[in-house]
Amino acid sequence: MKYIVASAWPYSDYVPHLGTVIHLLSADVYSRYLRLMGHEVVFVTGSDEHGTPIELEARKRKVNPRELTDQVHEYNLELFRKLNLSFSLYSRTESEVHKDFVKKFLMHLYNLGYIYPVEEELPYCPNDKIFLPDRYVVGTCPYCGYEDAKGDQCDRCGRLLTPKDLINPRCAICGATPEWRKTRNYYIDLSKVQDKIYDWLQRIQKITENVKKYSISWIKQGLKPRSLTRDIPWGIESPFPSSKGKTIYVWFDALLGYLSATKEYFMREGKGETYWEKYWKDESARSVYFIGKDNIPFHSILLPGLLIASESNYVLPWGISATEYLMYEDKKFSKSRKIGIWLDEAIKIMSPDYWRWVLIRMRPEGGDSNFTWKEFHRIVNNELNDDIGNFVYRVLSLIKSRFNGVIPFPEKTGDTEAEITSKIIKSTRRVISFLDEVRLKKSTDHILEIARVGNKYLNDRAPWDLVKGNMALAKGVIYTSADIIRVLAQLLYPFMPQTSERLWSQLGYKSKVEEAKWDKIVDNRIEPGTKIGKFEPLFMKLEKDFLRNITKEIEKAREEAEKERPRLIKD
Ligand code: MF3
Ligand code: ZN
Repeated sequence: MKYIVASAWPYSDYVPHLGTVIHLLSADVYSRYLRLMGHEVVFVTGSDEHGTPIELEARKRKVNPRELTDQVHEYNLELFRKLNLSFSLYSRTESEVHKDFVKKFLMHLYNLGYIYPVEEELPYCPNDKIFLPDRYVVGTCPYCGYEDAKGDQCDRCGRLLTPKDLINPRCAICGATPEWRKTRNYYIDLSKVQDKIYDWLQRIQKITENVKKYSISWIKQGLKPRSLTRDIPWGIESPFPSSKGKTIYVWFDALLGYLSATKEYFMREGKGETYWEKYWKDESARSVYFIGKDNIPFHSILLPGLLIASESNYVLPWGISATEYLMYEDKKFSKSRKIGIWLDEAIKIMSPDYWRWVLIRMRPEGGDSNFTWKEFHRIVNNELNDDIGNFVYRVLSLIKSRFNGVIPFPEKTGDTEAEITSKIIKSTRRVISFLDEVRLKKSTDHILEIARVGNKYLNDRAPWDLVKGNMALAKGVIYTSADIIRVLAQLLYPFMPQTSERLWSQLGYKSKVEEAKWDKIVDNRIEPGTKIGKFEPLFMKLEKDFLRNITKEIEKAREEAEKERPRLIKD
């Protein structure tokens, strides 16, 4: 089966914080899982470079926005590599392939009659002397009464808005009351395809509750025409007649990046300009999106709307996994107030695999979740060290000291072994089925369960005593335990690829762990007679006063990261 796995494109004005990393990491875990199941996967994402926040940030720094995004793109890409994200391509919305794709795609919709010019009055700030983009007008939401709603979307109720909807509008830059000035923009009206979007929403396979809940009610209210062009110089230039100086609204540009990046990836692979359609136009291909909840309407309404309207038989989203918010010690991540941890700082504190595991364990799957260092400490010490690491180390040590480093043939096993093996198989199936449901956090619960079953089994059977009087059974117990490690090594791969690879070679495998596909995970048990490899503890325990010292640690990491940051995002 062909899969397109996508994660929301991070804005390239700064380093991503942990909350943003969750989408990319989730897409990576899911892609790795799909490959293990034998599927063909393209995993695409990239830098979202356009839009007003980036333009204004560049203005503030007195540089061209492209200079800013060049630096941030390079820097972030390097960080994502360190985190071991296995994307096919991390593209950018400034890529030529992308810009060309967007213009052609939108011209196609123009020719089909979805896009037309409108004379309108727009908010203009007399003080800052610019037309204010939607997000830069703030005011009271007409639906829920939230007073700091933005002109494109209300952060409280999530509804899409236009600046005219806001009660008591103000300029977000200076607070002045905007004037309404005449200008001419292009609008896109997707109401003609709204019934089809509705049908698709009924049919979509893998979708989180939050997406279902909001999207269906939004679509029932009917789609309004939306402004497609903007009076700002930074962005993809408008391809429509007499619209010089105008650019495409950032969301209509970025969303099409999923298609253009697939195209660009296969072009780079030397497969030509149309090979990408083998994914996007293959009816049986599946596309799965990993996003945050503030991105829902764009992916569940605009994106399918654009795809349907284009009449080009593109595959509609097959899955949308929208996570809720990750908080940082009970607060919202905030760049301006420096609340939170950013990826470059994070990997100075702990190596990438720890973060991958911790972030999936904290993944806001069913509601908001809260990153705390206390929980970080618990996960690293209890789950990674005590549950997984300890079990592995005890078994490998016994193999080394009592069996010359060779996994024994299970001469004798009893009911206990049969029971344990069937428990492990059951848990393995659960890990797989939760991954299949895109419930990544839930799936790790069952990996931990396997390690806990292993630990308990070892304590109950006490093979260190058995070797003295019942060697045949001792061998059975050690063999059974070694095979549990084999299962753990395989199951850990999507989550902690480096750790999984290390464990695999500690077990004595010479192959790569990702070559051991999961269709045989139950049957391909470890060979008795295998000589185990060199081993050392898989994880390091956090010290007792970790929590007491963490503020200092963060400061140190921040200082070091700051030195490596590109010039334009240094404080
Ligand atoms: N940059 C947007 C955000 O961080 C997400 C864009 S998703 C896209 O909210 F794929 F459409 F680009
Ligand atoms: Zn203003």
